[in-house]
Amino acid sequence: MAQKISFLNIKGGVGKTSLLVNMGACLAYMGRRVLIVDFDAQSNASIWLMRLDRWNTLNREPEKFVLNLFKDPSSKMEACIQKSPIRDTDGDEMLPRLDLAPASFTLMDLEHEVNQPADKPFYRRFFEALSEIEDNYDFILFDCPPNFFYTTQCALFASDHVLVPSNPDALSIIGFHLLVDKLAQFRKSTAAHREAAKAPAPEIIGIALNAVKPGTKIHVPLERFNAQIDRFKAQGKVSNKTHIYPDLIRHSVTVGRAVMLGVPTVLMSKQDASINLAEDYIKLTKHMLEQLGDAEPEDTKDDA
Ligand SMILES: Nc1ncnc2c1ncn2[C@@H]1O[C@H](COP(=O)(O)OP(=O)(O)OP(=O)(O)O)[C@@H](O)[C@H]1O
Ligand SMILES: [Mg+2]
Repeated sequence: MAQKISFLNIKGGVGKTSLLVNMGACLAYMGRRVLIVDFDAQSNASIWLMRLDRWNTLNREPEKFVLNLFKDPSSKMEACIQKSPIRDTDGDEMLPRLDLAPASFTLMDLEHEVNQPADKPFYRRFFEALSEIEDNYDFILFDCPPNFFYTTQCALFASDHVLVPSNPDALSIIGFHLLVDKLAQFRKSTAAHREAAKAPAPEIIGIALNAVKPGTKIHVPLERFNAQIDRFKAQGKVSNKTHIYPDLIRHSVTVGRAVMLGVPTVLMSKQDASINLAEDYIKLTKHMLEQLGDAEPEDTKDDA
């Protein structure tokens, strides 16, 4: 059974997509079978991994996107999956173990244009569709938009864990507070459905600090963040697992370059020895694997 993780922060632009793409790539590189589900109508992860030309072409086939699961009750999750979307310039697969369920801009129609059946919320429909294919994967990662609308609800209902990408600043601490409260509300309001569907109760496993500029004094915000987490633990609002990952992702223009090239940063390091941001993502991914009790990460595979 796959471990399912939502990458979520209600604050925008903190690095949810870039962390998810790179940690997904690291997991696949370390031998895990990974599915990325793009639940953000901005489609950033999809365009990054498929590149604009292939994603544009795929837009002509709306039945190949997750939105179709909600429009057509007989449709299958399998039909929404692009196998090994990351390709080199010759079209060869670069990470054969990483698949993608892409988003398109039309995913935003889910909020207003598609009717949610009274007896089956969208998150139940998605949970059922996902369960048909989840055994094909070790990890399923959900890229969430910075809100708590329907697609985030679908991701959370299916997730065992929530990873919170964040920046080390005061606004992120406020955003974390809101996230913890919204998550608790969501777990409460979906309790009956979770029990009926045998769905997991998502727990925040960690906060990953992203885009930390060298020389930035993060000591004070970190202390405040930790004090807030301790208060939440005392109130039973987060589990004892919740912590700030010690492995920071440094600020680097490499991320933007990787998006332009249509490859995760972890693959770029092979092409340019001067770029070492991949080390940050690998360390963070190894830490998460240990935390989740996954076997000792294998070293990178030759064919990855
Ligand atoms: N480590 C980093 N160093 C420098 N820039 C970064 C880093 N990580 C992400 N960025 C840049 O920050 C911007 C926001 O990143 P990203 O899209 O991953 O955030 P997000 O939280 O997914 O945003 P949204 O809320 O819009 O979905 C992007 O331009 C990205 O290239
Ligand atoms: Mg994003």
